[in-house]
Amino acid sequence: MSRKNQRWRRSVIKLLPLWSRSFLLIKNWFTGCFFIGLFSLVACHNQPAEKIERTNFDYIKPITGANEVIAAGVVEKGEVLISYSDCYTCHKLNERSVGPAFKDIAKRYPTNKIYIEMLARKVIKGGSRSWGYPVMSPHPTLVLEDAKMMTAYILSLKE
Ligand code: HEC
Repeated sequence: MSRKNQRWRRSVIKLLPLWSRSFLLIKNWFTGCFFIGLFSLVACHNQPAEKIERTNFDYIKPITGANEVIAAGVVEKGEVLISYSDCYTCHKLNERSVGPAFKDIAKRYPTNKIYIEMLARKVIKGGSRSWGYPVMSPHPTLVLEDAKMMTAYILSLKE
């Protein structure tokens, strides 16, 4: 082996501990980054799922109260009145839309005269804050009796 070559080998061997140390440092740095990345990925991924679960959990809090039998004629008229009004632009039967699903409203309120009238007045006046949705527009041209038939129909959707 030539002398030049020997010198080179020696210097490589001398520097070996330094190399392995920096290699370890870089390796640790990479594993660190990997775990931080993994952690944030898992954390970010879990967050929305948790939120959805929570909203589903307290989405409908049924109010206890007596259910009365509502005359079939009233319910039918209510259904017709609703289909001729603007209700379905914001409400769907089974799904949340701009406003809550009609079936969810039925799950929350007992079917009796008090709630039918309370909800009818709310439909006429419009409002917010009951469901965490935006605002329901007022329906000032609705007559209370008609609005009551509409809300009677909505509450009759109880399963
Ligand atoms: C502009 C959209 C919009 C229209 C049109 C609309 N609603 Fe609503 N409705 C909402 C929103 C938003 C809510 C939730 C309000 C809240 O959180 O208090 C709601 C809530 C309700 C509730 C439940 C109220 C409560 O206090 O629990 C009833 C009943 C209801 N709507 C019936 C109707 C009927 C009947 C019509 C048609 C005459 C109608 N809505 C038209 C948006 C609308």
